[in-house]
Amino acid sequence: MARRVAILPDAVADQIAAGEVVERPASVVKELVENALDADACHVRVRLEQGGKTLIEVSDDGTGMGREDAVLALDRHATSKIRTAADLVGVRSFGFRGEALPAIASVSRLALATSDGETEGSELAVAGGRLDRVDPVARQRGTTVIVRGLFFNTPARRKFLRSTASETRAAHDALTTLALTHPGTGFELEVDGIQRLHVPENQSLAERLGAVWGRELTGTLVPVSYAAGSFQVTGFVQRPADAKPTGRRTQLFVNGRPFRDPFLIRAAEAGYRSSIHPGDRPSLLLALTVAPDAVDVNVHPAKLEVRFRDRIGAERVVEEAVRDALGRLVAATVVGRSAEWSGPSLPAGPAFETREGAEEAFDQAELLTSSAIAGDSTGFRAPLVQMFDTYVVYEAPDGVVIVDQHSAHERIIYESVIAQLHGPGAPAQQLLLPITLELTDEELDALESFAQEVRAVGFEVEPFGGRSVVLHAVPSPHPRFDGAACFRETIADLARGRFGGWSNRLERFAASFACRAAIKAGQPLSEPEMRRLLLRLFETELPPHDVHGRATIVQLPREELERRFGRR
Ligand SMILES: Nc1ncnc2c1ncn2[C@@H]1O[C@H](COP(=O)(O)OP(=O)(O)OP(=O)(O)O)[C@@H](O)[C@H]1O
Ligand SMILES: [Mg+2]
Repeated sequence: MARRVAILPDAVADQIAAGEVVERPASVVKELVENALDADACHVRVRLEQGGKTLIEVSDDGTGMGREDAVLALDRHATSKIRTAADLVGVRSFGFRGEALPAIASVSRLALATSDGETEGSELAVAGGRLDRVDPVARQRGTTVIVRGLFFNTPARRKFLRSTASETRAAHDALTTLALTHPGTGFELEVDGIQRLHVPENQSLAERLGAVWGRELTGTLVPVSYAAGSFQVTGFVQRPADAKPTGRRTQLFVNGRPFRDPFLIRAAEAGYRSSIHPGDRPSLLLALTVAPDAVDVNVHPAKLEVRFRDRIGAERVVEEAVRDALGRLVAATVVGRSAEWSGPSLPAGPAFETREGAEEAFDQAELLTSSAIAGDSTGFRAPLVQMFDTYVVYEAPDGVVIVDQHSAHERIIYESVIAQLHGPGAPAQQLLLPITLELTDEELDALESFAQEVRAVGFEVEPFGGRSVVLHAVPSPHPRFDGAACFRETIADLARGRFGGWSNRLERFAASFACRAAIKAGQPLSEPEMRRLLLRLFETELPPHDVHGRATIVQLPREELERRFGRR
């Protein structure tokens, strides 16, 4: 019987390997630019013609190669970056397989010119993986690789290439991603003779981000800096108020290496909690630093994905990092400039003071407030003023602070309801005279599906035949609370699908209830009530935002006042 198993010729094996590494011009740009960065280039120049379908050129001023190395570099598994399998753990260079150059060379006409700055430079020509020529050449230290006719010998793959515009876009993205990993390195991109990108050397990450993502977008970002255990997260996330449903940008790095991971992006979004609209997709760049053995970078043929040893831990830290960054944010709520939230702007002098007899309205019913301050009636000392029966205003050393009473109370109630729904629930206040309410079919359905939550916040409801229900008890978050109206409105909201985009049903319920239970605008408040309100607001996790993602606090900085009055 004839033999049927045979070893493939090298050229065929290379082409097959190339299929995994080289998918389109953007993959060539990625591999060649990674090599340039691994060679410590200060400046990298990329040139494309027809989206890279006819020409891709990458030049660098890095270490370059001597002649023998240059010839060897075109062989499969030839690498200068690791020597043993153990070196793979914690490898800092982009490359480690010794596959990229031979893979690209096997499916194109490749020319490589290089010099190490000491020995004579070399120029190599390869076609379809076959080394044709090695010539001496005079050139400065560094390397230039020119790839022509990508997939000329694999027509099936060539057919899969997209339009010039689409290939150009992908290559541009591949380059900007790498440009973000090395803000100290200069990059240029020329497309069909026109310069499309030029970023100088020695930029900070923020400057680099502004240059490649645009100032408008980066102006909406706030810095992230967080550490937990062996994880560290730095980068930028978008302010909640600026997140939009479309057009967002995301970028993840681990130990300096870009990777994709929809689950980590989702974890980051979870960090926004209730501060963005459910459909909004915030832009973000997060750079993780982990112990070298905590991540495996060799799990994807084009190295686009990585594997974390502690995936749950990674997701948790990312979520916490985002929440931490947003928790410090006043963002667009500062008039005249953007600023970071570094805790509330407190009045001058000892901000908190024990006040006898300050427990009025808000203390009568602690049902919906955090137990942390229950019984301990502390308050702001500075005078508080209510304006338009809607805003609470006070003076802080650095400016005037204005708080929206409804939004603030909504945030407070939302967080305590979430706590109650996870805990023992809130006590109910029995009504002397039960109230009978008529509901629609949709409302009855909503009541049925949220029965548990309704009970947990302190409502006691019973069917009363037909479409009627009887309310026996209601929660009592504040003295002006109208239990029956709140019940009706909350159920109506849920029936109408308000906050319906929120995936978490508890949060959905809590948001509807909080919105309806909170004190309203136009409601006069006593001074002690205002104090309690502010104190509780500043105890929440996200004081500056209400559950709709709107501001609860607006700060008018003192310097802004001085500027406007010509005092500085
Ligand atoms: N621009 C460059 N400057 C200096 N040396 C280079 C350059 N490009 C490639 N080399 C050398 O050629 C070798 C092979 O490159 P290649 O990209 O094929 O493999 P690699 O980078 O080691 O691994 P990987 O396949 O994971 O990218 C590299 O290890 C490096 O020594
Ligand atoms: Mg490489």
